[in-house]
Amino acid sequence: MGRRKYVIIMAAGSGTRMGAEVPKQFIELGGKAILQRTIEIFLDACPGISVVTVLPEDHMTYWRNYCLERNFICPQVLVKGGITRFHSVRNALEKIPEGAVVAVHDGVRPLLTPGMVSRMFEEAENTPALIPVVPCVDTMRVLHRNGDMLETVPGASVDRSVLFGVQTPQIFHSEILKAAYSLPYETSFTDDASVVEKYGKNLSYTMGERFNIKMTTKDDLLFARAIMSISAE
Ligand code: C5P
Repeated sequence: MGRRKYVIIMAAGSGTRMGAEVPKQFIELGGKAILQRTIEIFLDACPGISVVTVLPEDHMTYWRNYCLERNFICPQVLVKGGITRFHSVRNALEKIPEGAVVAVHDGVRPLLTPGMVSRMFEEAENTPALIPVVPCVDTMRVLHRNGDMLETVPGASVDRSVLFGVQTPQIFHSEILKAAYSLPYETSFTDDASVVEKYGKNLSYTMGERFNIKMTTKDDLLFARAIMSISAE
């Protein structure tokens, strides 16, 4: 029998850069909260998966009520977020046993396909730390910030062919992730891969999806609506 599957859905950010009244994970996209869409992808890909949802402390009741009102029936363990994403993941890991396989996913990435999730969980059975990446398609440039001005850094060049964007879900054997998260916090820990790497474990990589974008600004909502309307055709 394989390892029991868990997903930690990271939704404790308080980001309101979208200009909405609620943090971006609760904004509706096609009539459903971004967070609900994200969770549904995992339920669709892996029926029976255990869901741990990390929320801002002051939105836990909001989310409970939202799920009730929308009849969104999903057994979820709700966990209070921390001061940074790292601290939020650490809180959630208290709910995850050893010997499991655990995906950590940004609640604001609702556009990945269930196919990507199930393929990754299959690969992760024999891969302790699996990270999705996408090749960089833009030409990249290193610039110096001088107040509001951007300036050339003489001689600095970047070879695009070695650059990749890192996505979530990142999937780990739980004993490794739990051990890695006993490290003291560092500001460079912007995802789980960086923590596990610092702990001294090798990472494996797999292809992510171009549309698996992180909803950050209002423009991303427009992209998302366009992608969803194409997918529905
Ligand atoms: O801030 P950033 O865009 O990196 O956030 C990525 C994800 O981590 C978001 O889904 C956000 O809700 C979550 N997060 C969290 N706890 C924090 C900060 C961010 O769960 N303290």
